[in-house]
Amino acid sequence: MKWVVLLVFLFWSAGLCSALGPCWLFGAPESACVDMMPGGWSGPQDPPSPYNIQVTYIPDSHSFNVRVAGDQFRAVLLQARRPGSTEPVGTFHPPQFSDLKLLTCSAPGDSVTNSLPIMKTEVEVTWAPPSQTNLGSIYFVSTVMNSCRNYWVGVQSEPLSELTRDIFWPGTVPDGYLWSTATASYQIEGAWNVDGKGESMWDRFQHNNGRFAGDDACKSYDYYARDVEMSDELGLNAYRFSLSWTRILPDGTVAGGINQAGIDYYNNLINELLINGKTPYVTLYHWDGPQTFQDQFGGWVNEAIVDYFNDYARVCYQAFGDRVKHWVTFNEPWSFVVGGYGIAGGAPGIWDANKTEQYKAAHNAIRAHARAWHTYDEEFRADQQGSCGIVIGSLWSEPLDPNNPQDVLGSYLYQQFFMGWFANPIFGNGNYPQEMIDIIAANSQREGWPQSRLPVFTEEEILYNRGTADFVGLNQYSARLIYASNDTSPVDPNGWFNWMSIMIPDLLGYRETIDPSWPQGEMIFLLVTPWCVRRQLDYFRSEYQYDGPFYLTETGISEAEFEQPNFEDIWRTCYYTLYTNEVVKAVELDGVDHRGFFAWTLMDNVEWGSETHERFGLFYTNFSDPARTRTPKDSVASYRDIATTNGFPVGAPHTETARAIWDWCLTKEPYEGTSPQAATFNTGGIRQADPTVDYFLPGVRVGAAYRDKVVN
Ligand code: BGC
Repeated sequence: MKWVVLLVFLFWSAGLCSALGPCWLFGAPESACVDMMPGGWSGPQDPPSPYNIQVTYIPDSHSFNVRVAGDQFRAVLLQARRPGSTEPVGTFHPPQFSDLKLLTCSAPGDSVTNSLPIMKTEVEVTWAPPSQTNLGSIYFVSTVMNSCRNYWVGVQSEPLSELTRDIFWPGTVPDGYLWSTATASYQIEGAWNVDGKGESMWDRFQHNNGRFAGDDACKSYDYYARDVEMSDELGLNAYRFSLSWTRILPDGTVAGGINQAGIDYYNNLINELLINGKTPYVTLYHWDGPQTFQDQFGGWVNEAIVDYFNDYARVCYQAFGDRVKHWVTFNEPWSFVVGGYGIAGGAPGIWDANKTEQYKAAHNAIRAHARAWHTYDEEFRADQQGSCGIVIGSLWSEPLDPNNPQDVLGSYLYQQFFMGWFANPIFGNGNYPQEMIDIIAANSQREGWPQSRLPVFTEEEILYNRGTADFVGLNQYSARLIYASNDTSPVDPNGWFNWMSIMIPDLLGYRETIDPSWPQGEMIFLLVTPWCVRRQLDYFRSEYQYDGPFYLTETGISEAEFEQPNFEDIWRTCYYTLYTNEVVKAVELDGVDHRGFFAWTLMDNVEWGSETHERFGLFYTNFSDPARTRTPKDSVASYRDIATTNGFPVGAPHTETARAIWDWCLTKEPYEGTSPQAATFNTGGIRQADPTVDYFLPGVRVGAAYRDKVVN
């Protein structure tokens, strides 16, 4: 439907502002109104105007209250618009006619004459977007007159996307949207050395650290059919999982032989998914690479791995690509290169005081990604008609003080060193972010290195990297606040958390903190900040001029392992209510081409170094039971309601529940139950990082590294 125009409300008293009244009233474009202004008028005043617009969202009526206020005025023209357009979007509900007064201009160029008092200082109207309207980055704009001579054009509000940051938004995502969970081979399969599987880096790393839970994990190698059944109980239409490289190629290479039992296992799983109507969404590398490569040539720091990865990818496309249409090359390369080759927090467990190895590992991971994408593009796409992308994980960052340019810069650099490290070569100009190149070069020079510690892509490689993704998956869990600091020492022992100073060792002069009001889950890195989803999407779109497709490939919250199983995971219901609503907002309010939501995770699994002590599952896994029984937690029902209705349709019972619990879910209370030890660690509302405790981040263990390598 084509939208009819705007609202006008004039304050009528005794006559008619002959040209303007009817013009505005009947909705002619503003330019026409201006053209009709009688000659001699002084025309629009320069900003700043003495007027402002305040907009509030009214959840009950799913509408916006727009209030224009300021100095006295006689008339207001109000529109909702998109950036760069003067066309109004939608219609306003005009105020009562009794409120309207007549504005008279006795002669062109004259000032206003009135027989009755007509001046006002504020006016309020409502605007209700019809459900399903794609509001994009709409904002409100008004033209305010205080006389026929003086009027201000373009007094505007914040975009609605900001105004709707913390509100519940009833609405839905389009049909065909993928609703899923996400899992990873090492974390669920078990059967670590069964049926010909080779040793992975994570097998070795855990064993070296005396950890064995991953050997059997959830036994999904045996019980995969139950996993698919659970996905069905959740009402999901997609299923994200990863392939174990060494289950398919035991020593990592094709020359070493393809393990038919491994191919059979994944064929069975994929077929089971398809029979049950679930789209397979398959990750080639979720961190469990071949240990042989680590032993023989240093694993990811050696360029040799690029060819091997490409061979492995080709084997997978060949074996499964007739049925798999969504390929992910890497899950969160940041996590495994920093965790594995920087801070010894994940496999293969390298602590690198020189700060060189993580950059080399990342360099080869990016090359391997680009190569595997080109292989798909050139050899398989035409036949298989699928797509190939990457999953990037990063925290969202905001300046602690948005008015301090140094904090703003720090928050931007944080994105560059975290997400941009991988996003810029693939979605940007093909190279590392320039800021990263410059900063690491300067640091290297100061440290006496003959050249930068950041490897250099050739011109050819830059071209080859660029555009090598058919979609991007973002793992979006949480946010941070960044501030500039004169203290450039690499570690901030008093910092709330040392993620930045340890894991982004080249970004000196900035520190990382959080807002004490943010709710916190059991894992210290996990602050509940659902709004980070839309902000990061918005950033990604503008930074890389990339419009999608986007997927939210992981998000979730854990609880500690309780002595008795606890199925009443209200925190997870809250968490998924908040985070799924953000993708609904991204689609409806921001016009994002968003195509799937993947809850982390299907069932409690081996949370890397934390083993089974961190439970992220929608289903509870009984690790004492040889059959690894899985039992639904309460959140299964709530996630199913959301997934099976594409979000929060107006009038659905769960939409009303979500509306009712929304504000509470934004408080700390629902999350307190995630940690039986919360009382011990809680200091003024923020659980402090305790250097004597090992904290686990996605795949990386910081406490031990911090204590052993930095403090001592
Ligand atoms: C990883 C998962 C991990 C989850 C929770 C993600 O970054 O991809 O493997 O289990 O975080 O820590």
